[in-house]
Amino acid sequence: MKRRVIIDCDPGIDDAIALMLAFASSDIDIAFITTCFGNNTIQQTTENALNLVNLFGGNVDVYKGAENPLFIDRRPIPEFHGPNGIGGATLETSPRKLGEDYAWDAIYKEAVACNGELSIITLGPLTNIAIALFKYEDLAKYIKEIVVMGGSSSFGNEQPYSEANVYSDPYAFQAVLNAKIKVRMVGLNATETTRMTFDEMKEIFDLKTSFSDKLAPMLDHYLRVQNKYGEEKLVIHDAAAMAVAIKPEIAVSEILPVSVELTNGRMFGRTVVDIRLHSQAEKNVDVVKSIDFEAYKNMLKQAVAHYSA
Ligand code: BDR
Ligand code: CA
Repeated sequence: MKRRVIIDCDPGIDDAIALMLAFASSDIDIAFITTCFGNNTIQQTTENALNLVNLFGGNVDVYKGAENPLFIDRRPIPEFHGPNGIGGATLETSPRKLGEDYAWDAIYKEAVACNGELSIITLGPLTNIAIALFKYEDLAKYIKEIVVMGGSSSFGNEQPYSEANVYSDPYAFQAVLNAKIKVRMVGLNATETTRMTFDEMKEIFDLKTSFSDKLAPMLDHYLRVQNKYGEEKLVIHDAAAMAVAIKPEIAVSEILPVSVELTNGRMFGRTVVDIRLHSQAEKNVDVVKSIDFEAYKNMLKQAVAHYSA
């Protein structure tokens, strides 16, 4: 049976590839998409989400979520995903209207309707989930699992040790952890194991689809920015996390104690993963350590083939 999921995202070039993967999958049944600020403003990420759903032929609604993080101030850094969040690609405007509910209300209604069988895949800051948990005190018991692209058990990206999605709203991820929902964390340490060469990327996206000309500038931009900072290979974080959400067996993971550093300073927003064998801290998160690169590449290839058929 297909697993019912909500995808919470902030598109974002890698979010776009993750959506491409999700809409091609026969393992998941996408209830709808929710959006969050992050890679761009909430207006832009929502517009991108609507147009991306249209681009990939998805038949689901999009609900707008948080404009800002909890308690702190953050501004998008347009460099990484381009001024419009999708590397300057111009997408056809979706004929579909935005859903009327706020993301957190839509999430709660769906969770109750699914009666404990709903999973959530987050590809951006966790603000919408935190707001939903604050607003609906019984929500946690209705959520089966959250697969989070975020955090890291090693290095960071937005800060030396803090990953962008968690750094964008550290309090939100900690609120999710406090709610004791089953969390699988696909952090930078894990997505790093899927870094691909330019040739590998070309091979994956080789087949012609109706959206090839739209993906090309996105991937180009993404590759150029990563190259600029000396990376020869490309990592598509959200797509890697989506692959793990779709096929959990492609990841190697371990349940470990995780918390978010909330003290102001250079470590703010770091996910502190406690690997000490003698640690007495509660093991609360399934931390992905590595992803089967061949399986991941095949999933991407099969997704592209699905659209080109
Ligand atoms: C995450 O941050 C965003 O820039 C990407 O879309 C991804 O979700 C990687 O740290
Ligand atoms: Ca993202």
